[in-house]
Amino acid sequence: PRTIYLSRHGQSQYNVLGKIGGDSQLSESGEQYAKELAKFVHTEILGLDEDGNFKDPENRVVPHARLFTSSLRRTQLTARHIVHHKCDDGWIVMRPRICSSLSEIHAGAFDGFTYKEIEEKAPEEFKRRSDDKLGYRYPRGESYLDVIARLDPIIHEVERQRDPILIVGHQGILRIIYAYFVGDTRENAPFVSIPLNTVIKLTPRTYSCDVERFSLNK
Ligand code: F6P
Repeated sequence: PRTIYLSRHGQSQYNVLGKIGGDSQLSESGEQYAKELAKFVHTEILGLDEDGNFKDPENRVVPHARLFTSSLRRTQLTARHIVHHKCDDGWIVMRPRICSSLSEIHAGAFDGFTYKEIEEKAPEEFKRRSDDKLGYRYPRGESYLDVIARLDPIIHEVERQRDPILIVGHQGILRIIYAYFVGDTRENAPFVSIPLNTVIKLTPRTYSCDVERFSLNK
């Protein structure tokens, strides 16, 4: 595609508590981000002016821009203001494609734990993950290598798209997608910085990839 936009979901209630995994809803700050993200999509991706009308009606991106979310509530809640938007031409509807393969790395037995709780209750597991973040598999859960394998089909699908795409995803997932497109190694991927409240714009070129970050923090 010409451009791929990556965004984490807005801050979730689990993020506030420092818990991993789960399927929690958004915090108040996360709700705010969902609104900011919709504004960003409407102006930056769809080319609408401040009143919500097309700046260049002859050259509208809609309905070709694509929106992907995971099957977890926090990404769908984050995308929900993008989905319907009223403008002079009527309603813009960007229906998200909900992909379970975009859901966050599955923490298995440690789902709902904080890192501190894992360290206290299962120090040897905690150490194993610190020693090998890429290969470590959570008990009854996934490793980053598992995530790389499950994302493979969707990454290739994204790669084939010709329209701009926004993926509203999760920290772990977006690290892998980002590393793939910028050509970073698998070993570095689990450490890529994917902050909250930020849209990352990737523009693939023949032998490289331009990266721009938009902080939507108020
Ligand atoms: O903390 C938010 C979160 O999305 C967790 O659900 C997930 O386990 C974690 O980030 C992934 O990051 P890391 O691999 O650094 O633990």
